[in-house]
Amino acid sequence: MAASSPTVVPWYSQFPARAALSALRFVPRVPLTSLEQLFPGIDEVEINLRHSGRDRALWHGEAYVLSLVTAYAKPARILEIGTASGQGTALMAAQAPEATVDTLDLGNDAPSLGEQRGQPPWQDLSSIGAAYRDAGFGDRVTQHFGDSARFDYTPLHGQIDLAFIDGAHTYEYVKEDTANVLRCMRPGGVIVWDDCDYRSPGVSRALVEVRGQGHQVHRIVGVRLAMLRLP
Ligand SMILES: C[S@@+](CC[C@H](N)C(=O)[O-])C[C@H]1O[C@@H](n2cnc3c(N)ncnc32)[C@H](O)[C@@H]1O
Repeated sequence: MAASSPTVVPWYSQFPARAALSALRFVPRVPLTSLEQLFPGIDEVEINLRHSGRDRALWHGEAYVLSLVTAYAKPARILEIGTASGQGTALMAAQAPEATVDTLDLGNDAPSLGEQRGQPPWQDLSSIGAAYRDAGFGDRVTQHFGDSARFDYTPLHGQIDLAFIDGAHTYEYVKEDTANVLRCMRPGGVIVWDDCDYRSPGVSRALVEVRGQGHQVHRIVGVRLAMLRLP
């Protein structure tokens, strides 16, 4: 029997010209670095992982790098903005078996800073986080619902070792989410942003400003993740 041909990705999502043009002003101003430079010794870390790229999940390269950084950082507390199906949550929980995870998705709230064009919030609330529950991590994960710009982060202030910012990718949200997450971080903590590339100009635009505040955010070679390792 002939194998069915893989689904073709439409040309406009392979080459999002308008987004790329506006990102051109910002992406190159978030300098590139290698994982080895940012995390000396990470090339000695071995991991096992299972991942599916369905349902807005990370691409496989990003899934591997996020997992590797989690295994290296050995966080006790993790915060994620943007749960979706829970695959990112599951990746981090799998690599940090002692950690607890707080993860936030919009739920029934209205996005106070506007909706991301072309990427509506996750609609089916019952399936939010399904992947981490199915993987057996439900007892270590606290699921929060609410708009990330209005969520009360106070109980998390100074508590977080690893944060993954992957909610709305507009400039306004990434800027606000980053300011909130910075207040939650412990010294030496690591912040990871997804989609710092030419498809999502808001991410690099916000991160150029974060660099302007003195935070050494870098893009990681070969993937669309950006990272900050706090002093
Ligand atoms: C790209 S998906 C997250 C993918 C997930 N981190 C993973 O690795 O599998 C983005 C998620 O952010 C959520 N989101 C969008 N706007 C939000 C907001 N204002 N507050 C909280 N979550 C939001 C969406 O509902 C969606 O589930």
